[in-house]
Amino acid sequence: MLGLGTAALGRPQYINIRKDKNLNPSLESFRQDSFNTLEKAYQLGIRYFDTAPGYGLAEDVLLEWLQTKEDETITVATKWGYTYVANFDANAKVHEVKEHSLEKLNAQWQVSNAFLPHLKLYQIHSATLETGVLNNAAVLNRLAVLKKEHPIEIGITTTGSNQLEVLQKAMDVTIKGTPLFDAFQVTYNVLDQSLETMCNTLAKQGKKIIIKEALANGRVFKNSNYKHYSKLYNTLEKLAIKYHVGIDAIALKFCQQNIKKSIVLSGASNTEQLISNLQANKITLLEEELNSLKKLKITPVAYWQERKQLPWN
Ligand SMILES: NC(=O)c1ccc[n+]([C@@H]2O[C@H](COP(=O)([O-])OP(=O)(O)OC[C@H]3O[C@@H](n4cnc5c(N)ncnc54)[C@H](OP(=O)(O)O)[C@@H]3O)[C@@H](O)[C@H]2O)c1
Repeated sequence: MLGLGTAALGRPQYINIRKDKNLNPSLESFRQDSFNTLEKAYQLGIRYFDTAPGYGLAEDVLLEWLQTKEDETITVATKWGYTYVANFDANAKVHEVKEHSLEKLNAQWQVSNAFLPHLKLYQIHSATLETGVLNNAAVLNRLAVLKKEHPIEIGITTTGSNQLEVLQKAMDVTIKGTPLFDAFQVTYNVLDQSLETMCNTLAKQGKKIIIKEALANGRVFKNSNYKHYSKLYNTLEKLAIKYHVGIDAIALKFCQQNIKKSIVLSGASNTEQLISNLQANKITLLEEELNSLKKLKITPVAYWQERKQLPWN
């Protein structure tokens, strides 16, 4: 299933490799475009929306758009832990600030609980070993209380070359003998396939998997600055031609077929990209094609080192 991530819909600047984008749209037109993309996604059948307070306007626009709908099947997942601070300034040095404290959790919950009853998943945004959030008893207990008081699941999102280590640690967290975390939003794509080794374990324990960064922040698209990916580009291009879809649809389908029963997030920043991404629903890759794509993976360390160097564009 495809869901829609709203990171690119809430902030005009985002981590990627694009060069040709209008970086200074008026806030009003940017907001309207984002609203239209949400509506288009709904019309095209998307019912899962991922957002976060760290995504600038995203929660606000999503909430405004939700008021126009009466549909119980719409699911919202949001997060806590990042605050957006760039004030929509293209030259901002800092875009977001991370804080995994009980105070931040309580403050952001006060805002995000407006998504109830559509809110079904509440996640720690980018849980890492460094912030100590998975050892923070006050935070973990508070999340358990939220889960008890509301019909929501609790999850984490992971980032970085040690995603699997963080996942494993999170799976071991229990509150009064019950595992706290129900869902895991993880980076997975043709380049970083490390999640695959834990898929069966997660599935056996009935955990939900949400895939983010399925297009490797745009790195799956042909780019002359990334000559080392020529084999990746050729393989994706051949499949795109064969199936009459874009490279994005092939890359998304690769994730869908390899991580079974997952929700794969489209990170489309406009309706054209969204329509192109959704072509993934119309195709099925052959086993040998999946295998040829599997061979294109790089190490998680190489993947995340390169990602760190991507600018906010
Ligand atoms: N929890 C976390 O820490 C975290 C981190 C990252 C993402 N996420 C979630 O996952 C979602 C998806 O991740 P993502 O947006 O980072 O990654 P992504 O899917 O790897 O990349 C999305 C980017 O790919 C480009 N793109 C998409 N379709 C395209 C097309 N047809 N043609 C050309 N370019 C296309 C767009 O770039 P341009 O905008 O440059 O055109 C878009 O912003 C986010 O929206 C967010 O909800 C969560």
